[in-house]
Amino acid sequence: MAGYLVEDARKVTTHRLIEMKRQGKKIAMLTAYDYTMARIIDKAGVDIILVGDSASNVMAGNWTTLPITVDQMIYHGKSVVRAVQRALVICDMPFGSYQVSPTEAVTNAIRMMKETHCDALKLEGGEEIIDAVKTILAAGIPVCGHLGLTPQSINKFGTYAVRAKEEAEAEKLVRDAHLLEEAGCFAVVLEKIPAALTARVCSELQIPVIGIGGGAADGQVLVGQDMLGLNDGFKPKFLRHYANLAETITDAVGQYVSDVKDCSFPNENECY
Ligand code: KIV
Repeated sequence: MAGYLVEDARKVTTHRLIEMKRQGKKIAMLTAYDYTMARIIDKAGVDIILVGDSASNVMAGNWTTLPITVDQMIYHGKSVVRAVQRALVICDMPFGSYQVSPTEAVTNAIRMMKETHCDALKLEGGEEIIDAVKTILAAGIPVCGHLGLTPQSINKFGTYAVRAKEEAEAEKLVRDAHLLEEAGCFAVVLEKIPAALTARVCSELQIPVIGIGGGAADGQVLVGQDMLGLNDGFKPKFLRHYANLAETITDAVGQYVSDVKDCSFPNENECY
């Protein structure tokens, strides 16, 4: 398989991710929402592809992740799974699909697993949703937790600022992380919290902690479109741009437009 830094070409499993933490090997995770991008990202050697509910922002242009539905997540999940050979594929359970009751949560979780063929699901929250997490796990579905800045609660937070700076919120986050591990989650994402708190959770948990805007962790996750520079003007402190694809695409499309208009495309070799 063509790829970068892929030591082991076998399909990544939840078990392997826990092994990677034990061995001190870092985990690279990115989001993808469609076949074409997922295929490229998988070949480049990413360990986990997250079909994030950030599809609501990135693919549909919504302000928040709240509007995306189970049906829409299934569409994105299926498209990604068709492309991926190596990475573990996690789908986000969207807002409203797991908060009402554990029974409704597991019903939606089973549907998402059956219809997308993804490997695992991610849910936002700790103690408040622990019964739903346990019920989904009891159905044999691997669950990744998500704590800190949980975008589905943005209307409650009222801001995208760093979470858990105060002691009470930090202590609750640590308790929630332990609850998720004890319930049987295979990993937890920590979003936009102080680096020292991420380090504490990493050292206290046996399962991998994947950070975004939280400093060093057992692994990192970024939104693919953001790190590739497709999302003009979005440059929070934690984001590193690895390319400027917005500029590359604008230049390419500008050149195409000019070639069509001055009749230099198509030329005689580009005709039948
Ligand atoms: O939906 C998403 O993209 C996420 C990551 C930012 C962790 O949940």
